[in-house]
Amino acid sequence: MAVQKRTSKNVLLATALENFYAAAEEMNLDEGLVEVLSRPERAVCVSVPVVMDDGSVRVFEGYRVQHSTVCGPAKGGLRFHPDVNLEECEALGSLMTWKCSLAGIPYGGGKGGIAVDPFELSPREREMMTRTFAARIAPFIGDWTDVPAPDVNTGGPEMVWIMDTISKLRGKLEPGVVTGKPIAYWGSKGRTAATGLGVSTCVLELLKTQKVDPKTATVIVQGFGNVGTYNALFLQEAGAKVVGISDITGGYYCKDGIDIKAAKAFVEAHPKRILDGYTQPGLVRMSGEEILEQECLVLSPCALEGVISEKNADKLKCTYIVEGANGPIRPDGDVILDRRGILVVPDFLANSGGVIGSYFEWVQDLAGFFWTEEEYNNRLVPIMKDNFKRVWDYSQEHSVKMRRAAFLVAIKRVADGLKLKGFFL
Ligand SMILES: NC(=O)c1ccc[n+]([C@@H]2O[C@H](COP(=O)([O-])OP(=O)(O)OC[C@H]3O[C@@H](n4cnc5c(N)ncnc54)[C@H](O)[C@@H]3O)[C@@H](O)[C@H]2O)c1
Repeated sequence: MAVQKRTSKNVLLATALENFYAAAEEMNLDEGLVEVLSRPERAVCVSVPVVMDDGSVRVFEGYRVQHSTVCGPAKGGLRFHPDVNLEECEALGSLMTWKCSLAGIPYGGGKGGIAVDPFELSPREREMMTRTFAARIAPFIGDWTDVPAPDVNTGGPEMVWIMDTISKLRGKLEPGVVTGKPIAYWGSKGRTAATGLGVSTCVLELLKTQKVDPKTATVIVQGFGNVGTYNALFLQEAGAKVVGISDITGGYYCKDGIDIKAAKAFVEAHPKRILDGYTQPGLVRMSGEEILEQECLVLSPCALEGVISEKNADKLKCTYIVEGANGPIRPDGDVILDRRGILVVPDFLANSGGVIGSYFEWVQDLAGFFWTEEEYNNRLVPIMKDNFKRVWDYSQEHSVKMRRAAFLVAIKRVADGLKLKGFFL
């Protein structure tokens, strides 16, 4: 019997399913495996009543989807946003399964959230909503079942409320039930720089395959927030010349190299945490679009999705692109880059330092023993190098782009696990 292909009116889910079926076909995956992996293991819908500050009651819709626990507990964020719905959680949960699989960590994939505009809520309403949501999904989450993390509009405070609620319900401390907690409360040192460190490790590994000495490499990094700043900093420390950076205020170019430490210190001291006003000898200001089009060996977009498309892919003057942001290249741009021979290291691989960092937090919570930042970084870099190598080798052996290779490698690990374990429960 042929596979009954699912589809959805939700664009994210329809795309996730389409991509999965295409990859499964390419890999010649058994029909049974395709049927199982194209569906989430569990999808939980809860209502979340909150007594508002004016005494009225509002009920929000909450979700937690566990796409797969084949490789370990489900792992993935919780977002608070008006657009959150079940299909979106299913789609993003499946992407987490592939991301954790590729990262080589013992996790499956999940996603969840509440359909709400959290900025409409007072701090008390926000806390009550988060705690009630945690209590209602409590039977389904836990350090060995499903470990949520921050996502859009959630962060340290929400993770602390969830951990505290679950701990009280279970009558014992449950630090490993969520990651992304503040360092002072069972979080981990090293997490802030983890994603940027992972991206820069991929850049350096790529240069190795191309036999390029990093000291001769020029780099432009788009976005000077969490990911971009640390990526640029680590690349500069490795000897590369970061000739351009940008943020919401535009592009900053210097042919002799930007002083990343100075720029980072400038942003940290700026009340709005932006580059506006930063200067150094030889610095040239330009627009955010122009900086992407300057000559460099490596361009690393670390800001927003969809910034490289058919509109500008022909104008880029780089040899390699390493994606720090999620989805910075649109499919129409990807086709042009491919035609031009510009090699792309996909987001899926390059920004996985974040989820590997969550795994490290969980490991420390389970052990009740905490690492130094140096220990954290020394464990992250070899994992990133190994993951890069697996994808690079696959792409070379099978003559496919790294983006395709990453997806196929990721699906294979889960499918192999499922084959070994079978379909019982
Ligand atoms: N933080 C993580 O651990 C992590 C992990 C995986 C993926 N990501 C992805 O990386 C990307 C960046 O995340 P972040 O945590 O660094 O965010 P951030 O908010 O800390 O920084 C974003 C940066 O992008 C800049 N920016 C915004 N619009 C811009 C524009 N039009 N042109 C140039 N710069 C612009 C902002 O000014 C800021 O400097 C996002 O796509 C995110 O999903 C982040």
